[in-house]
Amino acid sequence: MNNISPIEKSPLQSWDNTDLFSNDLPSKFRPQIGKILVTGASGYVGGRLVPELLARGYKVRVMVRAVSPEYGTLWPNAEIVAADALDTGRLRAAFEGIDTAYYLIHSLRLGPREFESADLQAAGNFRRAAEEAGIKRIIYLGGLGDVRSSLSSHLRSRAEVANELRRGKIPVTILRAAIIVGSGSASYEIIQHLARGLFIFLVPPWAKNRCQPIAIRDVIKYLVGTLETEETTGQSFDIGGRDILTYELMLKTLGELLQKKQIFIAVPFSNIRFYAYITSLITPVPASITECLMEGLKNEVICQDESIKNLIPFQPLSYKEATLRAMSREEQDRVHTRWSDAYPPAHALALKLNELKGGSAYTAYCSLITEKDAPSLFNSICKIGGKEGWFYSNWLWRLRGTIDRILLGVGSVRGRRSYSSLKISDVIDFWRIEDIQYNKKLLLRTEMKLPGKAWLEFNIAEEDGKRRLNLIAYYDTHSLSGKIYWYMCLPFHHFIFYNLIKEIEKRS
Ligand SMILES: NC(=O)c1ccc[n+]([C@@H]2O[C@H](COP(=O)([O-])OP(=O)(O)OC[C@H]3O[C@@H](n4cnc5c(N)ncnc54)[C@H](OP(=O)(O)O)[C@@H]3O)[C@@H](O)[C@H]2O)c1
Repeated sequence: MNNISPIEKSPLQSWDNTDLFSNDLPSKFRPQIGKILVTGASGYVGGRLVPELLARGYKVRVMVRAVSPEYGTLWPNAEIVAADALDTGRLRAAFEGIDTAYYLIHSLRLGPREFESADLQAAGNFRRAAEEAGIKRIIYLGGLGDVRSSLSSHLRSRAEVANELRRGKIPVTILRAAIIVGSGSASYEIIQHLARGLFIFLVPPWAKNRCQPIAIRDVIKYLVGTLETEETTGQSFDIGGRDILTYELMLKTLGELLQKKQIFIAVPFSNIRFYAYITSLITPVPASITECLMEGLKNEVICQDESIKNLIPFQPLSYKEATLRAMSREEQDRVHTRWSDAYPPAHALALKLNELKGGSAYTAYCSLITEKDAPSLFNSICKIGGKEGWFYSNWLWRLRGTIDRILLGVGSVRGRRSYSSLKISDVIDFWRIEDIQYNKKLLLRTEMKLPGKAWLEFNIAEEDGKRRLNLIAYYDTHSLSGKIYWYMCLPFHHFIFYNLIKEIEKRS
């Protein structure tokens, strides 16, 4: 039995000096820089930047849309404020006393139809709030792409955000990057799952376009280096890794690393929506994100200007090195932030079970008595999902996940960020953790497509010197289709849930 409780090993406790990327930066801590605001901190890049700034001794205020109890542990010594860039009032408060602000807000997860206007509005509000507060500088990480060519909506939107931020008086440093390679990044997970899962690849014309991917550690170095190098103020820079490759070559490189045979077949058919949909069925990344990212493949994304190398000199990693590091992080179970942390975008604002007026309309319950101790049972509960699956009738859970993915839901293949640690807001397949109480309770909220809202609670209670392991399904709906759905699933619930807790007990 594994004695380490999944939640004893929180991400911060496992975040040690070797996880910091900017230790070998040529620039130094600048004590004259006042408080730094990091927006998009719950996202992939922002979540990795905050610990670096704190470790270097900066005073940091983190801006998130919804505060989670985990943030205090994750970023000790950081001030945490809740603000939405689309809400100007709260945004103003976030800027009070700020010296420099990082702009890492991105609404890609809203999907192709909505993200452009939301991103532009957020950038406008941010610029005005920054001006009112009179901050000294803004640092923005955007996307590479030649603005003179016809850019994809994603890359065009990144350029529009840069222009919007620059319209004001505050000097803005713009860093422009192509694909970021690192454990937990959406683009890396798409390529990795394709390379692992397939051996025949259709190559549409756009897969021959060239790209200059960059490792997440190099992105973080440039973000910190820019802060510490005054000459970068108000300038725009392209940042990239050592290699320029086609997407086909990226897949081939990964195939070589995985020692997999691959066959590539050139096809003239280039409909992005079709490829995005098929890709989303094979990889954990949903079609809305895949489509926006694939749209970007229509453009060549290569650094046009490498002047940043003179100001912040270090040797960036090659694509192969960056991929190997990402794979090794996954193997060591040391993935600190993942694209799913912020997807779907509404998750942070979702209704919690304890906020349901009058409680949930429907519940299903099953339990068993055991002599096993609470830590072993809890440890076993916390292993569910991801590679381990759902212990019993796994195929049924998978089938439900596949139906969800076909319906453009999150599906069950999102898996987990970590196999040994869990925290509030982590994703477990199509669930998200709403509450976790060590050795007592794990409450999951579903994010699959349902005609209602659903939660699954595992809890352990003491009873006559033994333990009662309970599983409760809560469901709330007001629609007829929602009620029909509940009664249709009810016969399966008892069978699946009871066998699930029996299996949890057996594995404890
Ligand atoms: N990841 C890449 O491969 C890549 C490549 C090149 C460039 N970049 C650039 O890097 C930047 C950061 O990207 P990322 O991958 O870290 O993005 P991400 O993981 O999608 O995170 C986006 C962040 O923006 C926040 N956000 C969205 N709407 C907001 C709003 N209205 N108010 C406040 N916060 C809001 C999200 O908060 P919630 O948690 O509340 O949703 C989340 O923290 C982007 O500008 C992107 O273009 C990324």
